[in-house]
Order: sequence, then C-alpha cells, then structure tokens
Amino acid sequence: MIPRSLFRLCCILGFLSFSKRVTSLTFLAPSCQNTTYNPKANSAYSASLNFLLSSLSSNASHTINGFYNSTAGHNISAKIYGLFLCRGDLSSDICEQCVADASNRILKLCSDEKTAIVWYDECLLRYSNESMFSRGDASFGINLRSPQNVTRPDLFNPLLLNLMNNVTNQAANDGSGKKFAVEEANFSSFQRLYTLAQCTPDLSSFDCMACLSNAVSNLPSCCYNRQGGRVVYPSCNVRYELYRFYNIVTAASNLPPLLPWSTPSSSKEKGQNSREVVIAIVVPIIVSVFLFFVALFLLRRRLRKRSDRVVEATGGSEILDAESLQYNLNEIQAATNNFSACNRIGEGGFGRVYKGTLHNGQDVAVKRLSTSSLQGFEEFRNEIGLVANLHHRNLVRLLGYCFHGEEKLLIYEFVPNKSLDYFLFDPERQPVLDWSRRYNIIGGLARGLLYLHEDSRLRIVHRDLKASNVLLDESMNPKIADFGYARICAVDQSEGSTSKIAGTYGYMAPEYAMPGQFSVKSDVFSFGVLVLEIISGKRSGSFHESDSAEDLLSYAWKQWRDGTPVALLDRNVGDSSSRNEVIQCIHIGLLCVQEDAEQRPNMAAVVLMLNSYSATMPAPNQPPILCHSRT
Ligand SMILES: *[C@@H]1O[C@H](CO)[C@@H](O)[C@H](O)[C@H]1NC(C)=O
Ligand SMILES: *[C@@H]1O[C@H](CO)[C@@H](O)[C@H](O)[C@H]1NC(C)=O
Ligand SMILES: *[C@@H]1O[C@H](CO)[C@@H](O)[C@H](O)[C@H]1NC(C)=O
Ligand SMILES: *[C@@H]1O[C@H](CO)[C@@H](O)[C@H](O)[C@H]1NC(C)=O
Ligand SMILES: *[C@@H]1O[C@H](CO)[C@@H](O)[C@H](O)[C@H]1NC(C)=O
Ligand SMILES: *[C@@H]1O[C@H](CO)[C@@H](O)[C@H](O)[C@H]1NC(C)=O
Ligand SMILES: *[C@@H]1O[C@H](CO)[C@@H](O)[C@H](O)[C@H]1NC(C)=O
Ligand SMILES: *[C@@H]1O[C@H](CO)[C@@H](O)[C@H](O)[C@H]1NC(C)=O
Repeated sequence: MIPRSLFRLCCILGFLSFSKRVTSLTFLAPSCQNTTYNPKANSAYSASLNFLLSSLSSNASHTINGFYNSTAGHNISAKIYGLFLCRGDLSSDICEQCVADASNRILKLCSDEKTAIVWYDECLLRYSNESMFSRGDASFGINLRSPQNVTRPDLFNPLLLNLMNNVTNQAANDGSGKKFAVEEANFSSFQRLYTLAQCTPDLSSFDCMACLSNAVSNLPSCCYNRQGGRVVYPSCNVRYELYRFYNIVTAASNLPPLLPWSTPSSSKEKGQNSREVVIAIVVPIIVSVFLFFVALFLLRRRLRKRSDRVVEATGGSEILDAESLQYNLNEIQAATNNFSACNRIGEGGFGRVYKGTLHNGQDVAVKRLSTSSLQGFEEFRNEIGLVANLHHRNLVRLLGYCFHGEEKLLIYEFVPNKSLDYFLFDPERQPVLDWSRRYNIIGGLARGLLYLHEDSRLRIVHRDLKASNVLLDESMNPKIADFGYARICAVDQSEGSTSKIAGTYGYMAPEYAMPGQFSVKSDVFSFGVLVLEIISGKRSGSFHESDSAEDLLSYAWKQWRDGTPVALLDRNVGDSSSRNEVIQCIHIGLLCVQEDAEQRPNMAAVVLMLNSYSATMPAPNQPPILCHSRT
C-alpha cells in the first residue's frame, strides 16, 4: 500500500509542477510611448482605460482566434482603443491568464501613458488614444536572441531563412482566421529547427506579409548564428529555436513525445515483482525532484527579470545596455597601436577613424571624436545605448564607446570592403560593381534607411547620406555608416545648421538652405541622389557630360523626359543588366529628388516600389537645380 500511495502522491506532485510550468507566464518587455498625461486632470481618460482593460480581460476566455479589439469612452477626448493577441497555439485559459496579468502590468509599468504595449511570450496587450485597428505597425519592437551559437552556421542560416519564408507565407495566408503558423525542419540528425510567425488577424494578408518580411529581414542582424531569436513588433512577430516552444505537433513532426517516460498504467499490472516496485517508487521520485528543480529554476528566472527597464530581455536572450558597451582606453590603445598613422583608415565629419584588432582577435573601427560639443556623460551614455541597439544588416553596428578625460571614442564593427565611392567613381574599379550588385546595394540602402526612419525606436534622420558613408562588406552588401551623431553629439535639432554637421553638397535637399527644415524627406532626397550616382557611376557634385556642364540630376531628368533613361547607365555595367530594373531605379531616384519634399515618397514606399514590379508609381517632377559647383 505504501508504495502505491507514495506513487500517487508523486504523480500528483509531478502533475502539479508540470501544469505550473505550462501556465507560468513569461513577460518580455513593455514599451511606453512617452505620451504622458495627468490622470487627475483627465479622469475621464483613466476611467476609459480601466473600462477598456476589464473589457479586454473579460473577453479573453472566449475568443475564437486569440484576438480581440475593443474601444471605450464616448467623449472623443477620452476615447481609447485596445486589443490583445494570444499566441496562436495556446488554450483560452492561458490566454485569459496572460491578458489579466498584462492588464495589471501595463497599468503599473506605463502608468499615465496614453499609448502603451506589453509583450509576453504568450500574448501582447496594447492600447492607444488613436485607433490602430486593421493597421500594420512595425515601427518599434524588440529583438531577442539566444546567447548560444549554432554549430554549422553555413548550413543553419540558409535553412532558417528558407523556413522563415515558408512560415511567414503560411501565416499571412492563413485561412483559419488566426494569421498564425508554425513550421519545423531537421537541422542535423539530432537537432530540429522550430519556427513561428503570427500577425494580429485584423491585418490583410498583404499588411501581414509586409510586417513579417520586415521582421525576418531583421533576423540576420539580430540573431545571426544564434540558436534562437525573435523579432517582436506590435502587429506581428517571428521566432525560432532549436527546441519546441509551442504546443503544436505538426504533420511534419516525427519526434518522440516531449515527456519520454512510460504511462503510469503499466505499473498497475498484477505481477508485482520487486523490480517493478522499485521502478514505481524511484522513477516518480526522480521525476518529481527533476520537476521541482525545473520549477525552482523557472521561478528564479522570473524573479531575476523583475527590473522594469524599457527594453528587457528574458533568460536566454540578451539586449545590450549602456554599461556593457564601455571599452577600456588601454585596450583600444593597444588595439590601434596607440592610434598610429598606419592604422588610420579614414577621416569623417566627426573625427579620424582607425582600424584596430581587439585582444580577442575581433577587428573594429575606432572613431576618435574631435568635436568638443559633446553632452554630459550620462546623456552620452544613454544615447550610445540607444544607437547600439539599432541592429540591421544594412547599418554599421556600433559596438561600444570609451570616454576617458578628453578622449571620446566610438567603437564600430569593422567592414572590410571600404566605401561605395571607392568603387563607384573610379574607372578601374567600376566594373566590380555589376548591375546585380548595384541593384542589391540600392535595395539594402533603402531597407537600412527605412529602419532608421521608421522601424527603430528612435526615428533617426541620417542627414549626411552619401557614397562615402556607405560601407561594403565582404559580399558587397551595403552598410550605412555615420548615423546617430546628431543624438550622440547633442546637435540641436531645431537649429538646422548646415554648417559642419549635416549635409554634403551634391546630396543636400534644397530645403536644407532654410533653417530647421530637414526631415526624413531630406534623407529621401540624398537617397535619390545616391541611387542616380549608383546607376550612372558619376558624382553628383562634379558631373560633366560632354556638351554642357549640367548636374547629374538635370541630366537624368532630361534623359527621362526624352524617353532615353537607360542612357544614364554607367557604360562599365555592360549588357548584363536588367533593363526594367534600371528604369525602375531611375524612376525611384527621380521621385526621391523632387523639389517639393511632400511629393517625395517615404522610405516605406520606396522599399515597396523596389519589391514589387507591379506597384504603380507616379510620374516624377523636375528636380531642383543644385548650385554645388560653387562650393
Ligand atoms: C518624454 O517626453 C518628455 C516631455 O514630453 C521629454 O522631456 C523626454 O525627453 C521624453 N523622453 C524620451 C525618452 O523620449
Ligand atoms: C493622443 O495623445 C497624443 C499625446 O498626448 C496627442 O498628441 C494626440 O493628438 C492624441 N490623439 C488623439 C486622437 O487624441
Ligand atoms: C466583451 O466584454 C464586454 C464588456 O465586459 C461585454 O459587454 C461583451 O459582451 C464581451 N464580448 C463578448 C463577445 O463576450
Ligand atoms: C475592432 O476592429 C474593427 C476594425 O478592424 C472595427 O470595425 C470594430 O468596430 C472593432 N471592434 C470594437 C469592439 O471596437
Ligand atoms: C468631453 O470631455 C471634456 C473634457 O473632459 C468636457 O469638457 C466636455 O464637456 C465633454 N463632452 C461631452 C459631450 O461630454
Ligand atoms: C558566439 O560567436 C561569437 C562570434 O562568432 C563569439 O564572439 C561568442 O563568444 C560565441 N559565443 C559562445 C557562447 O560561444
Ligand atoms: C513549405 O510550405 C508548404 C506549404 O506552403 C509546405 O507544403 C512545405 O512542406 C513547406 N516546406 C517546408 C520545408 O517546411
Ligand atoms: C527528421 O529526423 C527524424 C529523426 O532523425 C526522422 O525520423 C524524420 O523523418 C526527419 N524528418 C524529415 C522531414 O526529414
């Protein structure tokens, strides 16, 4: 009798700790949008918010697709919109728990905000004073990655991208009303790759796909070579791991069950020899002890991540904070041979750049800031933390900084293939850039700039985009450099000074001449100039075509107007080019350099035009005449 009841007890204990494991929620991060209001002065809004949250919670247990949107408040000044989305594989009671937990937490973390969102593993909850229903939003979010590296990145990364494309397609076209899909594939004989994609189901397939593509395009920079990673936006998210993190067994699964011990019924057989009794006692005890430690571990993990930073990582994932970005001056001096002339690789607007090799063998580029107008250390560090968390494969990654007395250094990833102008404007090297490379560079620049403008939390205007600020990696992929200085170096945004900081003649939008006028559309202008340069292999600033001394923009416009746009194409590109792509890029370039900033497309539209052959594009207007020959 004793062994039998002990066995039952163990089973119950085991079951309890197991079910606890399933229902423990994993909080990821909040994003409060800095739209504070005074709840005392606007009690109607607070009341709406409370009503909204309780309505969301009370609806969480009976949604069909794990999604619900709601509004509260009749008075327009107190109107508030909210929604939640539960992970597509979860049962309604977990969804209910998650939404309830999220409602409490969002009030605590983002108190007095008009707009906020909290992300969990299991769900997201969001509210705003402006309607976000049926609207894709990938303008901010979080990246998380596993600290563990994969063993064969050369095999893993292609498999991952393949599977991600597959799963995002399935999610966007999911007919079940959920916009959710999981997919898995064998990576090696003992490892399997699991992927997940989900959109809020109020999106159209097109908007869902746009959001998911954006998320997937972030994976290489965020989670390259890692065993797990995710990109989480308000409207969609993707995730992959080398373990099953969802509760669905797909048709493609051929794995043994999650819990590999046999079912208890087998020990109920009559033949009770002593061996079976030993098994019946020992196995449940081992299992219970194991589950106890699992529960303890999970509990500790939960306690560890209690801090309420704006961007917070869960166990197994990491996000950089400013402190971890600090480098030691001695280390950098050693890496660059004490800033020796031999290590100098360039000179930019803010100081000289040196190549260095850290003691762990990593190559870095060190920028020695010469500006004296740096802000205080705390602000400097905060801004660095923000800029260093911009991860995109088309941006040069900021690794850290060193701030020591007069010495102010920024440490970047080292990009091996020099800058775009090195190849683009040199007749000897121009042929290296065939059309497919140039087209790839244009696409990469557009995505990088889109990320800066809209998808990062910071909404950065680059202000000095030009060929020499575009670096090329070993596969000639473009990486935009020198962004974020306006923040790091505390340039007053409202001053609009064109003096030292922003703008290079030939790339500057005409509104730069007027103070305080630059915006993302000025970057679009510079991007347009860059596109025309990439196509023609000619500098905008010193352009001379045989008969008359025109500038590149006017020349491109004339060819376009005369119906001979392809005449603009660099002769070194040869015949390998795709005529349609060339014309498409010239068209986009001309749209971007229109005089009226309002008429220029934004980068999201540019990326869309580049991605779809069918997108209808308006006819461009004549670009402004730039007087850069006088600089
Ligand atoms: C939030 O807004 C306040 C005032 O509107 C501003 O002073 C502060 O810098 C903002 N904080 C962030 C992180 O944007
Ligand atoms: C929402 O709140 C923000 C910040 O207070 C405000 O700028 C915006 O105009 C509000 N929108 C509406 C529709 O009230
Ligand atoms: C959702 O919640 C609201 C407010 O609690 C309630 O009136 C409504 O009936 C609920 N919707 C459903 C579908 O149950
Ligand atoms: C939910 O959103 C849809 C648009 O996607 C809207 O038509 C509907 O009224 C919203 N529901 C509530 C309860 O606000
Ligand atoms: C809406 O709210 C504002 C401010 O709380 C108040 O002045 C106004 O009278 C309200 N309007 C209605 C129709 O209740
Ligand atoms: C993973 O790889 C990166 C770069 O290759 C390396 O810096 C890091 O130390 C590796 N991490 C582990 C845990 O091996
Ligand atoms: C990719 O998706 C299709 C359905 O769209 C499916 O039939 C196929 O098995 C998937 N391939 C992989 C490798 O998962
Ligand atoms: C994956 O590997 C397992 C075990 O090695 C095997 O049984 C299964 O058939 C494989 N599945 C696919 C889709 O290759």
